[in-house]
Amino acid sequence: MPKITNIEDLRVLAQRRVPRMFYDYADSGSWTESTYRANEDDFNRILFRQRVAVNMEGRSTRTTMIGQPVAMPVAIAPTGLTGMQHADGEILAARAAKKFGIPFTLSTMSICSIEDVAQGTDNHPFWFQLYVMRDRAFIERLIDRAKAANCSALVLTLDLQILGQRHKDIKNGLSAPPKLTIPNMLNLMTKPRWCMAMLGTQRRQFGNIVGHVKGVENMGSLSEWTAKQFDPRLSWDDVAWIKKRWGGKLILKGIQDAEDAQHAVDSGADALIVSNHGGRQLDGAPSSISALPEIAQAVGSRIEVHMDGGIRSGQHVLKAVALGARGVYIGRAMLYGLGAMGQEGVEKALEIIRNELDLSMAFCGRTDINAVDTGILLPGSYPTGKPAGL
Ligand code: GLV
Repeated sequence: MPKITNIEDLRVLAQRRVPRMFYDYADSGSWTESTYRANEDDFNRILFRQRVAVNMEGRSTRTTMIGQPVAMPVAIAPTGLTGMQHADGEILAARAAKKFGIPFTLSTMSICSIEDVAQGTDNHPFWFQLYVMRDRAFIERLIDRAKAANCSALVLTLDLQILGQRHKDIKNGLSAPPKLTIPNMLNLMTKPRWCMAMLGTQRRQFGNIVGHVKGVENMGSLSEWTAKQFDPRLSWDDVAWIKKRWGGKLILKGIQDAEDAQHAVDSGADALIVSNHGGRQLDGAPSSISALPEIAQAVGSRIEVHMDGGIRSGQHVLKAVALGARGVYIGRAMLYGLGAMGQEGVEKALEIIRNELDLSMAFCGRTDINAVDTGILLPGSYPTGKPAGL
């Protein structure tokens, strides 16, 4: 096996090992995928200021996110169907996060259930991501299950009440588990490692939903469920209701606009996530890193600002922190590690990112992540949050 030294190596290996429909599900955006690409490309346009002869000893990437200590300002993003990238994927990724000292966020649309992850990690606290569905009683039950599982934050997603169109998922007939059609079987025959691991687990359906909603005994399709169940009438009143019902730390995910950020502040949530859902929803929206400074400036210290979208290296983490993010989330970088090598691959992804973050911070002449600001970036190379010309 080639030596893995960066996230791209993990992506290439995952592409080889994971059945096409699940690899494609992770590695795609909506429509033309221009926002998906911009998320990463815009990071790469921002330049660092190299500093020399500054004492680099005693560096630390430790900080907090919503008051919880983290080994670096990175959390694992909630990603749908994670347990289809690798058998028991959510449990494995949560264990890697625990080992590493960063938060793991479980998606509502996961394969392993809330209870599976709690048991699989000895009830180590993790974060739970929620979608607002029409069936409010089901949401109440999900919230109660998350509380019973000792979840220490609720991440409420606001930008996926309807699903952005991803061409590959439609063409591949994405479902969990995959339907045994001839093209799927031919593809599965080339993925023996994935198949063997999958045969060793019972977790092959949407674990938080199947068996928990009356009448839903099997539910293969994410798009059908979204269309039927996700509530397009979602409003800030629902956010207030969920905040009250949950009663713990609340993070609002999917903010891209300063006016919405103001609503997030007014809601009393603990943090917001500047996010375009990894370029999977509104194609043509700005990249997350370009939206971040305006939002960070608009809200000041009234709410913690997090971001996701396009993070493929520790350098991206550093740039996001410099531009006002208290922490970031990795989705695809984690999924590539998981698809490539299971738990070991997620740990590898985290090590790679931490190492890149630590060294780059040092090259910029800083030793403490909490002291990083725009002073480490080359003026003119980064978005300022102000309209051009001002
Ligand atoms: C769900 O979160 C998706 O983007 O598919």
